[in-house]
Amino acid sequence: MVMTEKIIEVKYSQYESLTELSNDDAFLVAKAREASLNAWAPYSNFRVGAAVQLDNGEIVSGNNQENAAYPSGLCAERVALFYANAQYPNSSVLSIAISACNVNGLVSEPIKPCGSCRQAILESEIRFEQPIRMILDGASKVIVVEGVKNLLPLSFGKVDLE
Ligand code: THU
Repeated sequence: MVMTEKIIEVKYSQYESLTELSNDDAFLVAKAREASLNAWAPYSNFRVGAAVQLDNGEIVSGNNQENAAYPSGLCAERVALFYANAQYPNSSVLSIAISACNVNGLVSEPIKPCGSCRQAILESEIRFEQPIRMILDGASKVIVVEGVKNLLPLSFGKVDLE
């Protein structure tokens, strides 16, 4: 058996500003920005907001919740996603917008979800059989990723347990 090398491509779109997005996507980003203002981030001073668009028309938002015992805190993405899934267990998640600000305001470079949040987004995609669009907000650019496979190409999911 000869070793084979595999290459996986990932794809994303980059926009110069929010004005290039659809009204719905731009609105979702505005909701994520709004949510970031209510973050509880006294330790990092890094405030993240996430807004989740559901197929029933609802938008659910969340923000990072830090804790003096650092690992007990949770990222904005999972706060929003888990709350959405808890409130509307039958509604699939269509997209999630993520916005972050530091002490100087909106970050220049969009932040990308951490590994644990990618895994949680994957679970939601599998649960509802619906790829999730991720809209990553930044002052210098906006990145749109269609489906978490572009952020987590070799993943562990439900199928691996079957
Ligand atoms: N954080 C998020 O909420 N989302 C991310 O995608 C990256 C990091 C939070 C966790 C912590 O409260 C703070 O940002 C600094 O890492």
